[in-house]
Amino acid sequence: MAATVLIINGPNLNMLGTREPEVYGSRTLKDIEAMCIARGKALGLTVDFRQSNAESEIVQWIQDARQSSAGIIINPAAYTHTSVAILDALLACDLPSVEVHLSNIHKREEFRHHSYVSKAANGIIAGFGAKGYELAIEAIADLLPTAK
Ligand code: DQA
Repeated sequence: MAATVLIINGPNLNMLGTREPEVYGSRTLKDIEAMCIARGKALGLTVDFRQSNAESEIVQWIQDARQSSAGIIINPAAYTHTSVAILDALLACDLPSVEVHLSNIHKREEFRHHSYVSKAANGIIAGFGAKGYELAIEAIADLLPTAK
């Protein structure tokens, strides 16, 4: 059976396409989901793609991932810079994880330069727009013992 990669998107990413396109690009989250499913399939992975505006829901998904997923890709959006709860959930679930950002957070306002989540992630991809999600799938495929 193909390994499942859980892709979690945080708050306001449901607005992609119309949300600050000069920063985040013109692709919708649905477009990105389709890209991820296709890239995952090519690598023998099943992609479970989700978005939530609620921190508690994201924490619950990470806790549940222990049973259902082989790895996690997460764009925590604004929670990147605020959420010790998401960091703790990732540390507790002990799965390989990749943090992804559409924009280069280090080129932006200073409050975006710090990520709590990076402490738990195997690696970070930032600044490549929607393409970053494909890169993250490739990166996580290499981290999974069962995936090719
Ligand atoms: C983001 C960067 C965050 O600073 C911001 O709050 C987001 C999106 C990105 O993908 O570039 O919502 O995670």
